[in-house]
Amino acid sequence: MSAAAEQKRAAGEAAAALVQDGMTVGLGTGSTAAEFVRALGRRVAAGELSVRGVATSDATASLARELGIALIELDAAGEIDLTVDGADEVGPGLSLIKGGGAALLREKLVWEASRRCVVIADRSKVVQRLGRFPLPVEVIAFGHVSTSRRLFDALAEVDVGAAPRLRLRDGAPVRTESGHVIYDIPCGAIPDPSPLADALKAVTGVVDHGLFLDLADEALIAGEGGMERLMP
Ligand code: A5P
Repeated sequence: MSAAAEQKRAAGEAAAALVQDGMTVGLGTGSTAAEFVRALGRRVAAGELSVRGVATSDATASLARELGIALIELDAAGEIDLTVDGADEVGPGLSLIKGGGAALLREKLVWEASRRCVVIADRSKVVQRLGRFPLPVEVIAFGHVSTSRRLFDALAEVDVGAAPRLRLRDGAPVRTESGHVIYDIPCGAIPDPSPLADALKAVTGVVDHGLFLDLADEALIAGEGGMERLMP
């Protein structure tokens, strides 16, 4: 197993240790979150825990089902006790960029319904400033090219001179599980993510974006020297 894979696994196991019997647990998306789901599945299989999971994507739901983790819909869950998820970048104050796996909308809905959110990552995801990773923005498919032009103008208003790029797979636009498309914005360093987040949300046709601000309560960062716990 590569060092990065080992670190993801360690972060997943550390987060699974936070889960208590009877909890409703938000299950993130991506390779790091999958390590959490696997570690949680091991605890469930060992009879240590009975939990209900709320999945942030179909891929995570399939994995959880394979592992015998009971799932419920977000609307049936009420408040979620703990959500554990990965990130594409972890910046100052636990500001995050998410959405590399195109699951940002369901992820944000689950995060916002959660009492406690823990982000897990290997050290390579920690940055001094957000923005090296292109910022994903989820856009309504109808008229998305027109929306992308207004998105470009809105970005210029907050001094981000970057052109949104439609995310493609095999030459076709990637569709999210909610049927939307994704534009990735190569922002470069984002000195202050909050005005950018507001500007993106104000564009008609934008459903949401991958800036997760003031949402993470804690980060478990796995590195060569072991596990580091970061607070906002
Ligand atoms: C999914 O849409 C993203 O928000 C993921 O959390 C993110 O891409 C992290 O994935 P990895 O753990 O695979 O890097």
